[in-house]
Amino acid sequence: MLNRPVGSLCGMTTTDHELAIAATGLRKSYGDKTVLDGIDIQVPAGTIFSLLGPNGAGKTTAVGILSTLIRADAGQARIAGHDVIAGAQAVRAAIGVTGQFSAVDGLITGEENMLLMADLQHLSRQEGRRVTAELLERFDLVEAAKKPASTYSGGMKRRLDIAMTLVGDPRIIFLDEPTTGLDPRSRHTMWQIIRELVSAGTTVFLTTQYLDEADQLADRIAVLNGGKLVAQGSAAELKRLVPGGHVRLRFAEPVAYERAATALRETVRDDEALTLQIPSDGSQRELRAILDWLDAAGIEADELSVHTPDLDDVFFALTGSSVPAQTTDKETVR
Ligand SMILES: Nc1ncnc2c1ncn2[C@@H]1O[C@H](COP(=O)(O)OP(=O)(O)OP(=O)(O)O)[C@@H](O)[C@H]1O
Ligand SMILES: [Mg+2]
Repeated sequence: MLNRPVGSLCGMTTTDHELAIAATGLRKSYGDKTVLDGIDIQVPAGTIFSLLGPNGAGKTTAVGILSTLIRADAGQARIAGHDVIAGAQAVRAAIGVTGQFSAVDGLITGEENMLLMADLQHLSRQEGRRVTAELLERFDLVEAAKKPASTYSGGMKRRLDIAMTLVGDPRIIFLDEPTTGLDPRSRHTMWQIIRELVSAGTTVFLTTQYLDEADQLADRIAVLNGGKLVAQGSAAELKRLVPGGHVRLRFAEPVAYERAATALRETVRDDEALTLQIPSDGSQRELRAILDWLDAAGIEADELSVHTPDLDDVFFALTGSSVPAQTTDKETVR
């Protein structure tokens, strides 16, 4: 899914008409707090764009502006070719929005929530029933359909939320943290649904706190920090921005740790955790050299793990937060 060519249907490069979302110079302040300080976003039709950023970075604000709910102080945005201010009605007809917080009415059943949405979308009664039945089935909510939504679990509510967004068959959908609070299985189901939507031609604008989610799904990722987009690109391009590949050796014995630390130069020590980090590209050749060296020196590490940079590293590097104590190791050799 990454690096999928855009505008490939006719072998053309992307032009302005093929952009589902095109925003330039978006600015928004609340009082003296500048939330968006001139951001540009371009999302080709039929692709997934993911906006990442720490809490309070302005992701929901950006979704609000692009979906006509919030007015920007400056800048322009066109969605499906329509201006978000002059053509707000046309924009609303083309999009679906699943907000960060649930829009589900708990007092009525899941099915009634869906039918209400169908009414708001001006679908005929018959069409509304057909679409509702189809979506309840697709989101695995048939059994719960006749129960009040207040009795649903968080994951079921989230699924209902997204099903409601799809009632009008929007070409462009905005999902503001669609999988926050979902268990791993429900997250994977949601990812599958998002992939299916995109393969059917829908454009998805997704915000997320989960970097692996952006890594899994997004064609392009942008990182928002301090009001600016501090980096944009495919997951692979962003990962190339940060160094951070290393091999980590963990020791149970302080004596072995000290010997290795003294003998090995260019390592980063963690005296508390008894671990050493050796900068490395993680290649077989480098790993063999490290293992050979350990054998030759008669040092046995209790654990050796290979760490390649991932989106977490990119995120921490770009948003200025310090790297958390626990690292994400891809492969552990014991
Ligand atoms: N209506 C408002 N009035 C005043 N300040 C606001 C308003 N809406 C948002 N803000 C402020 O704007 C900033 C960005 O908020 P926003 O909700 O867009 O962030 P976010 O990236 O979606 O965060 P999160 O990851 O926590 O959802 C925050 O500092 C927030 O307090
Ligand atoms: Mg938000």
